[in-house]
Amino acid sequence: MPCIACNPSDLLAFVAKPILPQRSHVKRSPRLRQTFTLILNQYKAVKLTKWDPQGFDGLEIQDVHKPEIGSAEVLVRVKLRPVNPADISLIQGRMGRPPLPLIPGTEGLGVVEECGPEVKRFQAGQRVVCVPSKAWSALDGSGSWQQVMLVPEANLYPVPDEVVDKVAAQFSVTTLTVYALLEAAAAASEGKWLAQTAGGSFLGRQVISLAKHRGIKVVNLVRRAAQKEELLSLGTDAVVATDGSDGDVTAKILECTGGQGVSAALDCVGGDATRAVTASLLPGGSTIIYGALGGPVLQMNILDVFLGKSLKPFILRQWLSGMDNERREQVLGETMSLLRQGIIEPYTGKVFALEEARAAAAESIREGRGGKVYIASE
Ligand SMILES: NC(=O)c1ccc[n+]([C@@H]2O[C@H](COP(=O)([O-])OP(=O)(O)OC[C@H]3O[C@@H](n4cnc5c(N)ncnc54)[C@H](OP(=O)(O)O)[C@@H]3O)[C@@H](O)[C@H]2O)c1
Repeated sequence: MPCIACNPSDLLAFVAKPILPQRSHVKRSPRLRQTFTLILNQYKAVKLTKWDPQGFDGLEIQDVHKPEIGSAEVLVRVKLRPVNPADISLIQGRMGRPPLPLIPGTEGLGVVEECGPEVKRFQAGQRVVCVPSKAWSALDGSGSWQQVMLVPEANLYPVPDEVVDKVAAQFSVTTLTVYALLEAAAAASEGKWLAQTAGGSFLGRQVISLAKHRGIKVVNLVRRAAQKEELLSLGTDAVVATDGSDGDVTAKILECTGGQGVSAALDCVGGDATRAVTASLLPGGSTIIYGALGGPVLQMNILDVFLGKSLKPFILRQWLSGMDNERREQVLGETMSLLRQGIIEPYTGKVFALEEARAAAAESIREGRGGKVYIASE
C-alpha cells in the first residue's frame, strides 16, 4: 500500500490514477498542473500551536509547503530525529517563548533531496546530519520535526556508510556535546578524576565511554540507587546515589577518589548536585554547567568560591560558533570517528511516526523508558 502521506510519487500515482485516460487534458490545463504541483510540494510537519507547560497538547500534525531553496541551502528529507530534553523544554515553554506556531526538533538525520546552485559539498541522495551554529539552529522554529527541512550547507555533515541511522541521529546534540564537555573539563586528563551528575542520562553514558577510552576516571551521581549496578557494568569507576542511601554525597565522592577529590566536574542537574560535585573539586577547579534537569536554581558553598573554584556554562551552539572552519571540520570529523569506530555506542530506543509526536515526547520523559526515543518519517 503506498504511503501517500509521506511519499510525493506515491501521492502522484494515487491522485493521477482515476484521470489517467485524460492525461493530455492534464498536460494542457494549467489549473490542473498547478493543483498537482501544489499537492506534490506539500509535506507533513509537527507544529507547536500553543504552550502546554505540563504536556504535549500543543503539538499538531499539519501540511506545509516546500520552501524556496536559497543558493547555499540544502533541502533535506529528514528520516530520523531523537527526542532530546531541549525539545521538551522548548515545547513546554521553558526555553523562552518564541512566536507560535513553530516546528520543534533540535537535530535530525536525513537524505539530501535538492541543493541550491552554490552548494558544493553535497549531492542528492547523500546521508547527512544537521549541526547547529549561531547562524542556524533547529531551535529557531523550523526544526527537524517535519518531512523536509531547509538547512544551510555549512550546517550539514556527511554520514559515513558504516554509521547506521539511529547512531548518526544522535551525532550533534549528544555525541558532539560529549566531545566538547571533555574538552571543557580538560583538567580531568588521563589518570585523573572527573565527577558528573545524571550519570545515567544518554549523554552521561557517552561521557563514561569516552572517558574510559581516554583513561579518565569518572565518579557518577545518580538519583536512584538502582542505577548503580547498571552504570558499573558499563565499566565506569564509581557511582554515588543522591537519594540518601550513600549518606553525604561530597564525602562519598571524596572516598571514591581515595580522598584526593576530582579535577573537574560536569553538571546538568543543578540544585544540591552542583554544590556536591563542586565541593569535591580540587582548589581552582571548575564545574561545567550544561543543563538544568533539576530546575532553574543551583547551589555552591561560599568556601569553594574562596578556594578559587568556578562554575562555567557550556552551550553547544556557542561553542561551535566560536571556532574557525578548519577547527570545526576537525572536531566534527573526530566526533564522527568515535561513532564509526564504536568507541561511543549511543543507547537507542523506541521509534514513533511523525504523526505520533505527542506520544514520542511523552515516552521520552517516562521513567524507565529505556534507550533514546526517535521520531521517524519517509
Ligand atoms: N548545553 C548544551 O549545549 C547541551 C547539549 C546537549 C544536552 N544538554 C543537556 O544534557 C542533559 C542530558 O541530556 P540527555 O539527552 O542525555 O538526557 P536524558 O537521558 O533524557 O536525561 C534524563 C536523565 O537524567 C536524569 N535526571 C533527570 N532529572 C534529574 C534530576 N532532577 N536529578 C537527577 N537526575 C535527573 C534521569 O534519571 P532517571 O534515570 O532517574 O530518570 C535520566 O537518567 C540535559 O539536561 C540536556 O539539556 C545540554
